[in-house]
This record gives sequence, C-alpha cells and structure tokens, in this order.
Amino acid sequence: MFKLKVNEIEVEVEEGLTVLQACEKAGVEIPRFCYHEKLSIAGNCRMCLVEMEKSPKPIASCAMPAAEGMNIKTNTALVEKARKGVMEFLLANHPLDCPVCDQVVNVIFKINQCTTE
Ligand code: FES
Repeated sequence: MFKLKVNEIEVEVEEGLTVLQACEKAGVEIPRFCYHEKLSIAGNCRMCLVEMEKSPKPIASCAMPAAEGMNIKTNTALVEKARKGVMEFLLANHPLDCPVCDQVVNVIFKINQCTTE
C-alpha cells in the first residue's frame, strides 16, 4: 500500500493499480473509451488524460501505474483542453456510423467474453 494525491485528496492504494483506478478510489470519475477492467490495457483512445506533477504533458491514466507520492490533477484547464482535443480528433476522424462497421463484431465478442467470465 502507498499514498498519492488526486485533486489534493490523499488516497491509499494497493500495488499494481493504475492512476485511473486510484482516481476512482478517490471518488473521481475519469472518462474513458478503451479501458475496461477485464480487458488488457490498450491505451489507445487518450480520453483518460490527467495531469501528473512533473510531467510536461498529460498522461493516459489507464496505462500509468500508480506510484508513491504521485500528485494527480483531473480538473485543470490543461486536462479539459486535452480531452476536448481528443474528442474533436475522434469525431473528425471517425464516421458516426461505427455501430455498423466491421470492428463491431470484435467489440461484441469482447463484451460477451467479459460477461461470461
Ligand atoms: S481509456 Fe483509452 S487511453 Fe485510457
């Protein structure tokens, strides 16, 4: 167990958790598209960006292991701007008819795999 801060809230987490999971423990919800606790970490969508002290750029919280003494901020102007940028990029480069694209079969398969385990 070790301690870190999320929006100035001190939270104690177990080894092996991600920053995203630590944020959830602190009661802070992080938006995400590609993260699911029962799937391997893809880290593709970048929707879960948060600010970490001493990091020049926002980090993907789902792919970053939580560590002792981290200072995470989820509600800053930088985080909001980064998330808006991700949404703009996704909407500009992804047709809105994705429920009928070829990838939907893989998504449904993964969801079914999760619910049957
Ligand atoms: S949830 Fe997609 S990169 Fe973190």
